Amino acid sequence: MVRAFAPGKCILFGEHAVVYGHPAVAVAIDSGVEVELTESNSWTIEGLPFLSERHPHISHILNDVFDYDGEPLKIAIKSDLFSAAGLGSSAALSNAMGAAVLQLTNPKAELDSIELARIGHAAEAKAQSGRASPTDTATSALGGCVVVSGEIIAGTKHVFDAAMETPEGRRKWSICKVDLPEDLDAWLVLGFTGVGSPTGDMVAGVAKLLKKDSSKHQDMDAIARITNAGLTALGAGNLEAVGMAMNACHERLQNIEVSSPELDALVEAVRPHALGAKLTGAGGGGCMVALTQHPQRVAEAIEVAGGTPLISRVGVDGVRILQ
Ligand code: MEV
Repeated sequence: MVRAFAPGKCILFGEHAVVYGHPAVAVAIDSGVEVELTESNSWTIEGLPFLSERHPHISHILNDVFDYDGEPLKIAIKSDLFSAAGLGSSAALSNAMGAAVLQLTNPKAELDSIELARIGHAAEAKAQSGRASPTDTATSALGGCVVVSGEIIAGTKHVFDAAMETPEGRRKWSICKVDLPEDLDAWLVLGFTGVGSPTGDMVAGVAKLLKKDSSKHQDMDAIARITNAGLTALGAGNLEAVGMAMNACHERLQNIEVSSPELDALVEAVRPHALGAKLTGAGGGGCMVALTQHPQRVAEAIEVAGGTPLISRVGVDGVRILQ
């Protein structure tokens, strides 16, 4: 039996803009996905027969990536992430599944988190009509604080590059890491609106809006500037400036029409108790995130406003094998 865990992610700055080569900053969060594989005499998942068409991510990893021809597997999945909520649950599933299959088939092999991130990115792109950035998979695989950008940003440590053909042309990203200050005295509180929102639809909606109204490119450029400022503030541990950048980022995301009344209500509800707050991930529903020194108070404000809170540290370890 083997078990692997991969964390979810929270984008602090740059969602949507990163699909167009602008930078994004994301951190791994405490919640994530655990996969347990046990050799068995029949293929099952969560106690039911395993059907590849119902689980394309898992089937892609087993068959296309690992060419698995071993014993049938009993697959158990535990997740404490809200799904279709902008927290990278499908990337975490890809990474945890990849790590578990690798451990089962080659127990002596070192876990190659870069390779897992690449595998996961290809699977995400299939699910998002070819418009996926490597943000979710890289953050879940590498852990900590990850910067994904069309070009390497000064002050970051380069880890690997990724490229992909998208409907808007070829995109290339550098994936870099940033050390967070060790004594960062703040938590993230995520607030789930209860409304699921498929990332592929949101990304396609933004592509349509940019074609129809070219002035929206100014919002993308502004998100890029805010992301750079937010990253500098984060590296320096200047939490107030990080919060201000998060607030400014939310406004620009509203302009590109990816917020929703539910997201705006949760963002408004937490602002008195938070350094900053914004939607996180694809938007349209899903989650918002607040950076705060009063996580319980923010969690209560989210509940009172009708959302479901989740408290996390900022930037935990990436994919790992569980003993
Ligand atoms: C999804 O978590 C973030 C988006 O920027 C899409 C992507 O990066 O692939 C909306």
